[in-house]
Amino acid sequence: MLTISRKYMEFNGMRLPAVIHNEESLTYAWKEFQTRDDDVINITYPKSGTTWIQEILSLVYSNGDPTPVTTELSWDRVPWIEQHQARSKLENRPSPRLITTHLPVQFFPESFFKTNAKAICTIRNPKDVCVSLYHFSLMVEFMEIRENFQEFVKYFLSNEALFCGWFEHVKGWLKHKDNPNILFLSYEDMLKDPRGNVVKICKFLGKDLDDAAIDSVVTHSSFKAMKENPMSNYSAVPDYLFNKQQGTFHRKGVSGDWKNHFTPEQEEEFNRIYQELMKDINLDFS
Ligand code: A3P
Repeated sequence: MLTISRKYMEFNGMRLPAVIHNEESLTYAWKEFQTRDDDVINITYPKSGTTWIQEILSLVYSNGDPTPVTTELSWDRVPWIEQHQARSKLENRPSPRLITTHLPVQFFPESFFKTNAKAICTIRNPKDVCVSLYHFSLMVEFMEIRENFQEFVKYFLSNEALFCGWFEHVKGWLKHKDNPNILFLSYEDMLKDPRGNVVKICKFLGKDLDDAAIDSVVTHSSFKAMKENPMSNYSAVPDYLFNKQQGTFHRKGVSGDWKNHFTPEQEEEFNRIYQELMKDINLDFS
């Protein structure tokens, strides 16, 4: 393990915030974690809808009852497998365990692929991910602040970006697109049709919720409900980690905000790199 700056560490070439990860936690996730057949893992590149899926999963497994999402913090309900408290949070947890990860596939629990466990991988337009992550970096103590958005875009497109960068992360996961145990969702499609996506998630997980329960899942996982829910809106994080003067975790929750941030030159450069790195991949972010 390398500490490459005050805030980031490196694990086999992957950079990530040092405050919540260490070599032991990453090795645990990758090599030691024993996946159970009924585990459900929420996979995302940061700022792609992680918290939204955490909320939906919690509500699906409570049959639409909002009690868990209003009484337990999201990161305790659906904890990250790579963070340093994962072992203590997950080892003795009763099944089914709901788990979150930002890991790229090459560092994902090896045991997953030998089980019937399921995973949901949500992908968001990388330009919106970049904008969302930029605002997040201004708010959280554990990310380095770039001088301005221009510098942040350069960093996002570089191989220094967190969790191996959006391109490698997404391309790696898409190699598993035919795996029947992994459901791929798009953030943009979830915005367009939240109910349809909740139904799709239930079907994939074999959860038979009636219409009222589905409606409850949709209502309690809406942007507005989550922004107001102290168990899901990160207001419980101490000020030394989250500077709440800078904004809120639930910022806009829309698609296309990149248009308010990118100059034509930045857009052109982003598109050029996207075409180069994603040339064989067909993703629609409309
Ligand atoms: P913005 O910064 O663009 O608003 P993650 O949970 O992966 O960190 O992603 C955070 C992004 O998802 C933020 O995007 C946040 O506002 C958005 N988000 C969180 N909950 C949402 C919801 N219920 N509906 C739509 N967007 C949501």
